Amino acid sequence: MGRLNSGADLENLRKEILSRRDPNKLCVTVCSGTGCQAYASEKVADSFATELEKRGLREQVELRRTGCHGFCERGPIVVVFPEEICYLRIKPEDVPEVVSTTLVGGKLVENLLYVQEDGQKITHENGIPFYKNQTRMVFGNNRFIDPQNINDYIALGGYFALAKVLSEMSPTQVIETVKTAHLRGRGGAGFPTGIKWETTRNARGDVKYVIVNADEGDPGAYMDRSLLEGNPHSVLEGLVIGAYAIGSHQGYVYVRQEYPLATENVSIALNQMREYGLLEENILGSGFDFDVAIQRGAGAFVSGESSALMNAIEGKVGEPRPKYVRTAISGIKGRPSNLNNVETWANVPLIISKGADWFASIGTEGSKGTKIFSIVGKVNNTGLVEVPMGMTLREILYNIGGGIRQGKKFKAVQTGGPSGGFIPETLLDLAVDFDELTAHGSMMGSGGMIVMDEDTCIVDVAKYFLDFLADESCGKCIPCREGIWQMLKILNRICQGEGSEGDIELLEELGETAQDCSLCALGQTAPNPVLSSIKYFRSEYEAHIREKCCPARVCKALIAYSIDPEKCEACMSCLKNCPVGAIKGRKDVVHVIDQEKCTKCGVCFEICPPRFRAVTKSSGREVPSPAEVGGQA
Ligand SMILES: Cc1cc2nc3c(=O)[nH]c(=O)nc-3n(C[C@H](O)[C@H](O)[C@H](O)COP(=O)(O)O)c2cc1C
Ligand code: FES
Repeated sequence: MGRLNSGADLENLRKEILSRRDPNKLCVTVCSGTGCQAYASEKVADSFATELEKRGLREQVELRRTGCHGFCERGPIVVVFPEEICYLRIKPEDVPEVVSTTLVGGKLVENLLYVQEDGQKITHENGIPFYKNQTRMVFGNNRFIDPQNINDYIALGGYFALAKVLSEMSPTQVIETVKTAHLRGRGGAGFPTGIKWETTRNARGDVKYVIVNADEGDPGAYMDRSLLEGNPHSVLEGLVIGAYAIGSHQGYVYVRQEYPLATENVSIALNQMREYGLLEENILGSGFDFDVAIQRGAGAFVSGESSALMNAIEGKVGEPRPKYVRTAISGIKGRPSNLNNVETWANVPLIISKGADWFASIGTEGSKGTKIFSIVGKVNNTGLVEVPMGMTLREILYNIGGGIRQGKKFKAVQTGGPSGGFIPETLLDLAVDFDELTAHGSMMGSGGMIVMDEDTCIVDVAKYFLDFLADESCGKCIPCREGIWQMLKILNRICQGEGSEGDIELLEELGETAQDCSLCALGQTAPNPVLSSIKYFRSEYEAHIREKCCPARVCKALIAYSIDPEKCEACMSCLKNCPVGAIKGRKDVVHVIDQEKCTKCGVCFEICPPRFRAVTKSSGREVPSPAEVGGQA
């Protein structure tokens, strides 16, 4: 079928697509998201193609490359439909067995299934605890859809929300629906989407722009990439609906430079939309015209900020400007421009199809719907999770994340990306939504969650984030450029064991000044990691400054390795492996570390046989000299 001239044409196309598909037909889906591709999922898909060909099964079995399922660390992920048998960490060499045992023999390949802690094997994706406790409204279709095939999206009801909007609703009704749903922007600040749309709609001027923000510069965050790669039409459908509501005829998808697959899939999606008459002139015969261009990111974290991003689209340096007048009123080329995050746009078709009341029934008083988080760090299950707003941190990190690795103790979770804050163990039962996180010194940000265990030094991690932000500051305003830099210098001193009384207070003062006086939200939020870590872990700062002790034994300048003469069996392992020859001793003579020579690489600590455990790592206490322990150094 070619161009669609009405909602009825879309309905007919969907019927035609479904009539060609047998729901009982065997279908092998191979995740082709960037995460699984890093584990060679393309080779797995190619192996399936070859094996099916070899066995003459190409007609009986469909092979489909899909978007990211979220559980990337267990990739490549393969699901066999209609039974939805889920195989994890599958390798190309496993493929012949899957074909013969599952596709031909109808039996399971047990060693590719998910294994629970109690040893029980789980056959279906939805039975795996990581998935079982999620509500995947926005992200859920990724696993069914070939993102390069618009028909897969239409088969699941895609573009019906757009057809409804264009044929049954006025722009004002669309805006009212989004306002009633209380959708808040998923890109950081949680600004009410309907109000922003209304501002741009009501702003003066005939030419208006709508933009998808897919810059996603937070380290460790990749939910926008996975959505754009895995289900680009859901974002684009939201964008066209927004354009209609706002009165815009030109849109942009601003994609981070480092996202080639997302760019490719969006580009293919746009071409397919044009073929079906879902873009350009007279969309679905409604008289509404709209087109979209792709803009590659300017390669800096700060370019994700609204005014910086719009400067970059204009071809200028991607730096922010003072926003006395908001971009919703004066954005690209001084024209009203509405910017929303990838996930925000993807929520729009759901709200139109299922209704504002349905959407508003999910979540908390002030934050409706779901949120996709990327959980990384010291949890057992890392990946992308989508949960209703209001789920507690404990539920997210333990029921879905599977708890802390190696049975260690939870210390903190950093939410909101580099400019978010630390949440300590005492707040694990905090209901996660925009307002609660902000009230406790952190923020939702775009949804990054970095989990830390007892072996993490909070001062060191705060320094890491500040280092990132100091590097990314555009340098245009003094509170951000100089303030963050001075804070970083103080943190470096503290971690070097050169902190002094008054440093904590100075950090607080500098942080508050940067928060109050910086030009854009980068500088205004950059102090969050430091201020929240002082708030919840002040004693750890004090230990570094007063006792020259790093309680987690991470800061190199504050730790020392030593060998317990009572436990050392003079086995020579550490002595032979020390890269700088700092360990003295002989066979049958206990070993000693020369502290002057030691570079604190930790090899001796790692290599000392567990049955001896003679090497200790300490901080804040004197290490005995070789003479004191009677060694040979
Ligand atoms: C330094 C900085 C970087 C940002 N990066 C992003 C980003 O990568 N993606 C994003 O959606 N929003 C980002 N934002 C937030 C945007 O300025 C803007 O608020 C958001 O795109 C609006 O969309 P929303 O209302 O749907 O959340 C960033 C803000 C700042 C200050
Ligand atoms: S890329 Fe395959 S699960 Fe994320």
